[in-house]
Amino acid sequence: MTSSVAENETGAILSLTHVDLNLKSDAGDVHILKDISLSLPAARSVGIMGPSGSGKTTLLMVLGGLEKPTTGHVAVAGQDFSGLDEDALASFRRDNIGIIFQNFHLIPTMTALENVAVPLELAGEKRAFEKAKEALDAVGLSHRTTHYPGQLSGGEQQRVAIARAFAPAPRLILADEPTGNLDAETGAQVTKTMFDLAKSRGATLVMVTHDAALAGQCDSIVHIRDGKIETPA
Ligand SMILES: Nc1ncnc2c1ncn2[C@@H]1O[C@H](COP(=O)(O)OP(=O)(O)OP(=O)(O)O)[C@@H](O)[C@H]1O
Ligand SMILES: [Mg+2]
Repeated sequence: MTSSVAENETGAILSLTHVDLNLKSDAGDVHILKDISLSLPAARSVGIMGPSGSGKTTLLMVLGGLEKPTTGHVAVAGQDFSGLDEDALASFRRDNIGIIFQNFHLIPTMTALENVAVPLELAGEKRAFEKAKEALDAVGLSHRTTHYPGQLSGGEQQRVAIARAFAPAPRLILADEPTGNLDAETGAQVTKTMFDLAKSRGATLVMVTHDAALAGQCDSIVHIRDGKIETPA
């Protein structure tokens, strides 16, 4: 926890210090992330670009506390993940980090409203359904609250996922190719929704994308190649 004071002093919302990730597999050890150090100020957006297999998704998982680095430190809002046990990390993640996936990851048996409200409820939010309704309003889906994911277009499903990610008011939003499954026009609308929400909420947005134009809308771009950062943010 010694680094948490340092992170607060620099005002970084997110900091990675000499992060390495080695995974053991049948084919031998895979060295996926190599000495990644990165610091991001609050309320900014950063695009992560790089070839397929370069480690972008893995990096997001490490940033989100879903994958533990082999060595090095990850801190969000001054909290070093290595100082938290599994339960504390899960609850920290729930309150501070929202994740948006390429494949939406909505629960098919729940309505749009339930998909957004249930995680809030699980987090102990008493006004879960009210807040979920507000979040769906904010992504322009107030007319689709009782629809199931299968009754929604891809762009609408991704907007539900965006509402779900933003609803608990996290400081950090991680998005992994959020427009990868959408056509260009729908992707542009979804992106605008995401950027607008991040800005109005003061959230930091970290977005993996293969789309240079999309990455260009971010305040900065980090290029990853073979598990290493090419250009620091
Ligand atoms: N659980 C795992 N065990 C072993 N190797 C893995 C594991 N997960 C990922 N890898 C390897 O780590 C490397 C980085 O994977 P990652 O999914 O982070 O790439 P990516 O940059 O997101 O690629 P894409 O653009 O195709 O999504 C790849 O070579 C992948 O095969
Ligand atoms: Mg990936």
